[in-house]
Amino acid sequence: MADLGFDGKVAIITGAGGGLGRSHALELARRGALVVVNDLGGAVDGTGGSETAAQKVVDEIKAAGGEAVPNYDSVATPEGGANIVKTAMDAWGRVDIIINNAGILRDASFKNMTPEQLNPVLDVHLRGAFYVTQPAWEIMRNQGYGRIVNTSSGAGVFGNFGQTNYGAAKMGLVGLTRVLAVEGAKNNIKVNAIAPVAKTRMTEELLGPVADKLGPEYVTPVVTFLAHESCPVSGEIYSVGGGRVARVFIGVTPGIVDHDLTAESVRDQFDKIRDEQGYAVPANLNEEMGLALKALS
Ligand code: NAI
Repeated sequence: MADLGFDGKVAIITGAGGGLGRSHALELARRGALVVVNDLGGAVDGTGGSETAAQKVVDEIKAAGGEAVPNYDSVATPEGGANIVKTAMDAWGRVDIIINNAGILRDASFKNMTPEQLNPVLDVHLRGAFYVTQPAWEIMRNQGYGRIVNTSSGAGVFGNFGQTNYGAAKMGLVGLTRVLAVEGAKNNIKVNAIAPVAKTRMTEELLGPVADKLGPEYVTPVVTFLAHESCPVSGEIYSVGGGRVARVFIGVTPGIVDHDLTAESVRDQFDKIRDEQGYAVPANLNEEMGLALKALS
């Protein structure tokens, strides 16, 4: 089968001045995409800012023969999001791909979590994806084409100590992904999420000795495929790192039907309610409602 090409496709990649985003930007550009390299250029906790990070990646892409423009706006405001999309429109007149990747960390145990740790994390990861995606949504709807990849995290999907702010934002992105998959279906807009693990400045101290086996280049091929025209799925989540790729899904057990339900009958049937045998994986709320109605009928 032919290689996956991106000739003429315009891609916005947020937080692409380093780490995973840089890797995605270099690879999409190498495959022919025209790339907006967005990065605020701040520290891991989101403080500060500099134009150097995005510009360096643009220079790298151009040196390799690709096409890219920098953007230094923060994803964390509606104005920033609008300007990121405007950068693509001014340069090339369309937007085909958005990789929502920008991110920061402000970890603390829940008992110590302050609004200064909560709000910027929600703003960058969760609201940032709204602010960048929404101005592009109408463009994608009108052209009948779009591919969006949101960067979630196992910290939210599965849970991790000290990351209630980050985990809530990252699981919020799963909700955004699934609803946008439903809303985008009739206009050929496909929206998926990844839960990556990779050695970047964000994680190198956390990952320990295994870090060197977890380069960002192991995450980028999955993002590339999900961003491609031939992507066969929408609304799905993939766990990716170090060469392992697996689907994460939200399933529902067959459960029980008991028209005389009491707290005691819930207790007595709890093992059956939890039994994963014969689970289903609804693609959307309609399918889940269909399962419930079938069980009840
Ligand atoms: P990174 O710190 O190298 O990259 C994040 C980039 O986002 C930085 O270049 C930063 O300047 C940029 N950024 C931060 N706030 C921004 C804003 N308001 N507007 C524009 N750009 C902004 O870290 P990494 O690991 O490459 O992270 C990329 C994404 O992957 C993040 O969303 C992160 O939460 C997620 N992730 C990473 C994992 C890993 O193992 N590295 C694990 C799970 C999720």
